[in-house]
Amino acid sequence: MTENSKPPKKSANTVWHQASVSRSQREKLMGHRSGIIWFTGLSGSGKSTLAHAVEQELHKLGCHTFVFDGDNVRHGLCGDLGFTEEDRTENIRRIGQMSRLFVDAGVLALTAFISPFNVDRQRVRMMVENDSDFIEIYCRCPLNVCEDRDVKGLYKRARKGEISNFTGISSPYEEPENADLIVDTDQMRLSDCVNQVVELLKNRDVIYL
Ligand code: ADX
Repeated sequence: MTENSKPPKKSANTVWHQASVSRSQREKLMGHRSGIIWFTGLSGSGKSTLAHAVEQELHKLGCHTFVFDGDNVRHGLCGDLGFTEEDRTENIRRIGQMSRLFVDAGVLALTAFISPFNVDRQRVRMMVENDSDFIEIYCRCPLNVCEDRDVKGLYKRARKGEISNFTGISSPYEEPENADLIVDTDQMRLSDCVNQVVELLKNRDVIYL
């Protein structure tokens, strides 16, 4: 983290209170490991759809999960942030910290944010205890396909210049350098994408049901 990307420290005189119920005790109770399943990709690449579909499957398997979604979180916790590079960095930092609390709580947190910058995603990976607590899934979908889908009509508005800093149009998207899984959402059926994610979680012993 660079110095100027750190928020001003206004809470200096605080002392960390150690929980008396440990993460591993919680995981034992839940019957699976906790962690962050981080979906990244362009707007319209299918991140939220996939995250929710994976959650449904995990829920059926008896896992404790929660989905954080870019559009939803920006209504509340991150409602004060826009789409400049700085604001996106702060958005991802907050989501990272929140997801990390869910990991401590023994939950599988699924996040669906564009998170266009490698350094921001990397920083979240560093926030968790073990490297294996953060699983990065790249929802790969060509820009022209996302733009054709244009579910929210935002690409059209961005092309007209009505929305600034729009990812893929006037703001960059950096493809993950070492994603744990790449799903080509324009080529595969949703159910196959879900299976790939669930298989990965089984192979990594996150779920052992
Ligand atoms: S992120 O870049 O900071 O990770 P986030 O996932 O929270 O973005 O929010 C992306 C969602 O905000 C998009 O799916 C879209 O609906 C909406 N949005 C509004 N303005 C923009 C913009 N300039 N660039 C990208 N998405 C935008």
